[in-house]
Amino acid sequence: MIKAVTGTRDTLPSDIPKWNYLESSVKSVFSNFNYKEIRTPVFEETNLFARGIGEATDIVGKEMYTFLDRSGESITLRPEMTAGVVRAFIEHSLDKKQNLNKLFYIGAMFRQERPQAGRFRQFHQFGAEALGSNDPLLDAEMIIMAYEIFSRLGLKNLLVKINSLGVPSSRENYKNILKQYLAPHFALLSSESKKRFETNILRLFDSKEEADRKIMENAPLLIEYLDEESLNHFEKVKQALLSTGIPFEVDARLVRGLDYYTHTTFEVVSGSVGSQSALCGGGRYNLLVKELGGPDLPGVGFAAGMERILLACENEKSFEPEEEKIDLYMVALDKGLENFIYGTAVKFRRNGISVDLDYLGRSVKAQMREANRTNAKYVLLVGGEEFSRGEVVLKNMANGEQKIFDKNDFEKILLSIKEN
Ligand code: HAM
Repeated sequence: MIKAVTGTRDTLPSDIPKWNYLESSVKSVFSNFNYKEIRTPVFEETNLFARGIGEATDIVGKEMYTFLDRSGESITLRPEMTAGVVRAFIEHSLDKKQNLNKLFYIGAMFRQERPQAGRFRQFHQFGAEALGSNDPLLDAEMIIMAYEIFSRLGLKNLLVKINSLGVPSSRENYKNILKQYLAPHFALLSSESKKRFETNILRLFDSKEEADRKIMENAPLLIEYLDEESLNHFEKVKQALLSTGIPFEVDARLVRGLDYYTHTTFEVVSGSVGSQSALCGGGRYNLLVKELGGPDLPGVGFAAGMERILLACENEKSFEPEEEKIDLYMVALDKGLENFIYGTAVKFRRNGISVDLDYLGRSVKAQMREANRTNAKYVLLVGGEEFSRGEVVLKNMANGEQKIFDKNDFEKILLSIKEN
């Protein structure tokens, strides 16, 4: 038997209501903040991600689905959306159409990570990117939107962590200070951290190795070495969050796994999902647009993992998606009425009524069971004595009330169903 590839999942019809609920909450919050949807291709030239996310990151170094297509071009399935959105922004000169572009997206991403609870190889993100302004209010807006979405889903066990990575000049200066601090401990570092010491030293703060953690406990923190402009920017973000009542914590050890960040970075973590606890992450990236060949324009954004969010919602039992219902189930009481029933069902459907009927030659009892299983609001009973008198019976399944109609009085039956 052929099974789904490791780390990928099917979303079955029974899972769809909660996905629909999540997606509609996401869209309604983004619309409240006036973000417009953008859709970009699932695959891009490999170079885009290598340059955008950074050669030294885990994503680019270890996790991308990269292959040569039949013409020999190196293609990569998108591991995230920011690089693709920025590419599209540059390619279509969106900055010429308006000074600030507030964009959002929902879609599948691909990373070849070790699968575990809340971590998949094909997963889904929603996210937002605001391109064209350095206003700290937009940094805060990303956090506020993420928090609002989580709140509308009823999630409670949340922690917002924010940090600032400053600008490259202060960061380079700090990296040297960190190197000096780490040099005497170098021999004790894990082999992964020894590599990162050269390539991506900030990521040592993310190490799960006990030996590394002990050493990093006393490491100097970037926030102590930030320049004034970065500190001012960070202060304004914090003020904006305070003024909107979003609880947050400054975590000076929060470094993100992507290289493009400047200034603010943040994550929202959930206490309800085990080790893969980051529901979303994001931050400002003022150099990325230029780095990818575009104008010198700043950007800020975030992305959230939808599987993880739904896992948190399930564990917290935070919302119950509405049961899917159909308007009408048509029950045949006798054989030989197929043409009348089928024709009438199609007429109802053309009038916007959701209708189902029996396609399996079931008994009347089994048809009634099916009507219940599909949560039909009404049942139309066709056949028996009534039908020989030229009538049909409409039963309201909520209160059991039955109404008799002339079988040709389609409009009246339609009205009666629509009234509810
Ligand atoms: P990221 O932190 O790599 O950031 O991913 C954002 C979120 O996607 C994570 O917090 C997590 O919830 C989810 N996620 C990541 N990998 C997986 C996985 N393998 N399985 C399930 N969920 C996963 C970004 O992607 C940046 N593009 C965010 C951003 C946008 N920064 C600025 N703009």
